[in-house]
Amino acid sequence: MTTPTIELKPSSNLVPAADRERILANPGFGRYFTDHMVTIRWTEGRGWHDAQLVPYAPLSLDPANMTLHYAQTIFEGLKAYRSADGSVSTFRPEANARRFQRSARRMAMPELPEELFIGACDALVKQDIDWVPGTGEESLYLRPFMFATEVGVGVHPANEFLFMVIASPAGAYFKGGVKPVSVWISEEYVRAAPGGTGEAKAGGNYASSLLAQAEATERGCDQVVWLDGIERKWVEEMGTNNLFFVYGDRIVTPAFSGSLLAGIVRDSLLTIASDLGYEVAEERISVEDWRRAAADGSLTEVFGCGTAAVITPVGRIRSKGGDWTVPATGEVTMRLRKALLDIQTGAAKDVHGWLHPVA
Ligand code: COI
Repeated sequence: MTTPTIELKPSSNLVPAADRERILANPGFGRYFTDHMVTIRWTEGRGWHDAQLVPYAPLSLDPANMTLHYAQTIFEGLKAYRSADGSVSTFRPEANARRFQRSARRMAMPELPEELFIGACDALVKQDIDWVPGTGEESLYLRPFMFATEVGVGVHPANEFLFMVIASPAGAYFKGGVKPVSVWISEEYVRAAPGGTGEAKAGGNYASSLLAQAEATERGCDQVVWLDGIERKWVEEMGTNNLFFVYGDRIVTPAFSGSLLAGIVRDSLLTIASDLGYEVAEERISVEDWRRAAADGSLTEVFGCGTAAVITPVGRIRSKGGDWTVPATGEVTMRLRKALLDIQTGAAKDVHGWLHPVA
């Protein structure tokens, strides 16, 4: 089967420049979408076909669309940044393409070729280049996703799918400076278990997280911390983020357990921290280790990381067993955050070849 080329069918009815500029002045996160979207269809026996860039528009779905019933849907998130010289690049899109293939395999969905994933993202960024905000932390957040389009309520892998990319301008996540968040350690609910779908970026994982997040809010916390699904002892993730623990010059992130999402920011920070001379490790960390190391002062900082928020320091921890704080100086957290953003925005040398120039 051949890889289709993306046919460009641009809109003749763009958002007026003045409205776009107003949106870009305060985009928030995930609230506004650009003028276009990419759609690529997959049908059993035919493979990928009908690749198009078209005006952004609502979809019309049959009520028996299988995704609405059985959630065969996966997504990715990556950002396009504008450098000081005006050029625009995405950050490690091949890593997102490969994770999207792994998510597809786990969810019994077809694998989109890497070049088509990257080509679709590039086509949308190029077409909607005026939607990429100015320099700094602001970016154009790309949301590639795929879902079943077969109609029927029999339970089986669908025989047709739609892959799409949409884009949304994103402002600096923390207005007025990075602030530490408080977290609630969820012992009642788990995000994922070994053998489950935690390693896939599947829509259902996010649906099942919402009640625990609501519980965290009820407890006066900003975010939920997930523990392992078996012993409810080992720290896994925070909300939609991976976690890092800083012990002076030693930086540790929970090791893969079969239920952690392989974050691309997580992976990048392991490399950046090592480049900066820190000792890095992937290890199991228990709630008890966390509490003890915070109490004896050996744990100096904790932070979460992900594409949307980049890096979020954690300051206060609440759990059924009691509350504690991390005496966060934030020095390492902020150093890593700056080092990552400097690479993403072209302010530092891209020694690992992570930037993918688009325009
Ligand atoms: C990320 O930050 O990487 C995420 O996955 C967040 C997204 C679900 C909004």
